[in-house]
Amino acid sequence: MTDAADGLGEAFDSLRAGRLLTILTGAGISAESGLPTFRGEDGLWEGHHAEELATPEAFARDPVKVWRFYEWRRGLVLAATPNAGHRAVARLQHALPRVAVVTQNVDGLHQEAGSTDVVELHGSIRRVRCTREGTVRPALGAAFSELPPRCPGCGAVLRPDVVWFGEPLPEAAWRRAVEAARQSALLLVVGTSALVTPAAGLVVIAARAGAFVVEVNPDETEATPLAHRVLRAPAAKVLPRIADLAERAPG
Ligand code: OAD
Repeated sequence: MTDAADGLGEAFDSLRAGRLLTILTGAGISAESGLPTFRGEDGLWEGHHAEELATPEAFARDPVKVWRFYEWRRGLVLAATPNAGHRAVARLQHALPRVAVVTQNVDGLHQEAGSTDVVELHGSIRRVRCTREGTVRPALGAAFSELPPRCPGCGAVLRPDVVWFGEPLPEAAWRRAVEAARQSALLLVVGTSALVTPAAGLVVIAARAGAFVVEVNPDETEATPLAHRVLRAPAAKVLPRIADLAERAPG
């Protein structure tokens, strides 16, 4: 691998001068925290059928089955800690004037690592939403005593506050993500297969708007043809080097 910093110096000068860095992350950034990704060997969608677990139809048919899956995943998330990749993203946010962190992940590990203002495109497994009132609250405690859990306010069934296949993305999050993609001088695409739309479309939007696109991923993805630089290594290895570069004094 070439040095992560090679050729990125100029881009970082413009970021220090106030241009926007957008970091788009996917499940791969949390892989080194021990959380499974979705696709590929050992991916969640290899052992489970997404249409039976992550659609509104599946939830209507068998809410307990869907909840068991999300409670299992929430247990994994609560036991996990952020890794050097998440911490580097937080460092970048502190080192540069304008950084947007946009994630497809529902694990909350960016926030745990110290990132602020994270745009969560697919919601959070750490929150629940009332299916009747739409109210959102934290999923407190390690496990619910009864499944499906019920809304303390109205008694209706609660659902995980995540986006399922066939559902629109949260409007405000999507708007902020598109705005960030359009304004970016540099887009870091980290640990995503870029197979799921509309999130993957952010790479196209940023590239068309003139962003320099850098992919951080051990494998080739749908985003690779759009990338100006490809760093074929795990996020926890590459991102700290990029954060070092951002923290280095200019010149
Ligand atoms: P995927 O499982 O589709 O892709 C994970 C990517 O991470 C792959 O390209 C891997 O090569 C890469 N990867 C693995 N280990 C890595 C590491 N250590 N460092 C960097 N990259 C690594 O996950 P996503 O692209 O996030 O949506 O999936 C997108 C969406 O599909 C998810 O948000 C979820 C899923 O269905 C919903 O549930 C709505």
